Amino acid sequence: MNFFKIETPNLILRHLKPRDLKGMFELDSNPLVHKYLGNKPNTRIEQSKKDIAFNVQQHKERGIARWATVEKSSGNFIGWSGLRLNNDLTFNNKTNFYDVGYRFIPRYWGKGYATESSLAAIDYFFNTMEKELLCGIAETGNGASNRVLQKIGLIFINDFTIDGTDAKWYELNRENYAKTMS
Ligand SMILES: CC(C)(COP(=O)(O)OP(=O)(O)OC[C@H]1O[C@@H](n2cnc3c(N)ncnc32)[C@H](O)[C@@H]1OP(=O)(O)O)[C@@H](O)C(=O)NCCC(=O)NCCS
Repeated sequence: MNFFKIETPNLILRHLKPRDLKGMFELDSNPLVHKYLGNKPNTRIEQSKKDIAFNVQQHKERGIARWATVEKSSGNFIGWSGLRLNNDLTFNNKTNFYDVGYRFIPRYWGKGYATESSLAAIDYFFNTMEKELLCGIAETGNGASNRVLQKIGLIFINDFTIDGTDAKWYELNRENYAKTMS
């Protein structure tokens, strides 16, 4: 796989690697992290291995992925941020859509990292990958995630449910992205 790195003022986004396994399991075994993700934290490290492999594969095949996010000041793995092609899942009656997402270990919350990394992922999506439509999903109760999606310029489209839980659907198309850049 080609070398890949996106650098922002405080963060590095790079491929997830086998050495991120410990951090990925720390992230996904934390109930706080999964509060608005169906409340089913991982209990088996094998799941984290599969998650890393899935993202490595998405990048190989499509040039996009949820990327390992590293805090520059400490060199620590803090979680992941980035893009996903959802061709295996249906939400809001849609499949085959790209979304932007982020998931960090709680001690790194509240530092602006979801916003900073997502803005870089959006730039990559429209300017490098030259894609047309980016979506975003957050459970309605997930105040931080809804706020991030709004801050990075996604536009609220409609309410829907995920397994009976209220959620919000957002979108950003190329035209609106260009307007935010001008
Ligand atoms: C969602 C998440 C990635 C946010 O990361 P973060 O780096 O703390 O986000 P940022 O610091 O960039 O921005 C958070 C914003 O939400 C605001 N916020 C935090 N908690 C909030 C709440 N309960 N209600 C409303 N806004 C809230 C913050 O004040 C900040 O907005 P501001 O800059 O206008 O003050 C982090 O909380 C997380 O990893 N959660 C668990 C996984 C998850 O839920 N992922 C999203 C799934 S849709």
